[in-house]
Amino acid sequence: MAEPLLCVEDLNAYYGGAHVLEKVSFEVADDQPVALIGRNGMGKTTLCAAIMGISPPHATGSIRFRGKELIGRPSYKIAKLGLGYVPQGRRLFPSLTVDEQRLDPRPRVRALPTPGRATPERRSTALRRRAADARNRPCAAAQSEALDHG
Ligand SMILES: Nc1ncnc2c1ncn2[C@@H]1O[C@H](COP(=O)(O)OP(=O)(O)O)[C@@H](O)[C@H]1O
Ligand SMILES: [Mg+2]
Repeated sequence: MAEPLLCVEDLNAYYGGAHVLEKVSFEVADDQPVALIGRNGMGKTTLCAAIMGISPPHATGSIRFRGKELIGRPSYKIAKLGLGYVPQGRRLFPSLTVDEQRLDPRPRVRALPTPGRATPERRSTALRRRAADARNRPCAAAQSEALDHG
C-alpha cells in the first residue's frame, strides 16, 4: 500500500509540564481533504504547531510527511518538504493579495506567476511591498498606502 501523505503516530505534545496532546495517531491520504474540529483549547493549534515543528510545544512520537520524519526537523526544512501552514490570527501582509499571502517556499511554485497578471514590473512591486512589510510590520498598512500613493 502507498505511504499516506501524512502519518501521525503516538504524538505527544507538552508546554513545559503540561501534557496537551496524548498519543495522537491518524493518517491523511494524498488528495484527501481533512478538517479537524474541536472546541477552544482542545489542541488543534498545538497539533498544527507540532506538525510544522514550531516550538513550543515540545513534541514526541512520529510525524511522517511523504514518508519523511518531521519530529526533530526545523520548521524551515519542513516547509521545504512542501508542507505549508496558515496560522490562526491576523498575521498577514496587508498589501499582498490572497495568492501572494501563500508563502509557498518551494522554488518551483514561487517562480510561477499567476497567468495574465504577474508582469516583471508587478512582481517587483509585490516584492518591494513584501520587503517593506517585513521591515515595518506594525505600520505595514501605512507603508503600503505610502507606496500606493507614490
Ligand atoms: N504557549 C502555550 N503555553 C502553555 N499552554 C498552552 C500554550 N498554547 C496552548 N496551550 C494550552 O494547550 C491546550 C490546547 O490549546 P490549543 O492547541 O491552542 O487549542 P485549540 O487550538 O484547539 O483552541 C489548551 O489547554 C491551552 O491552554
Ligand atoms: Mg487554535
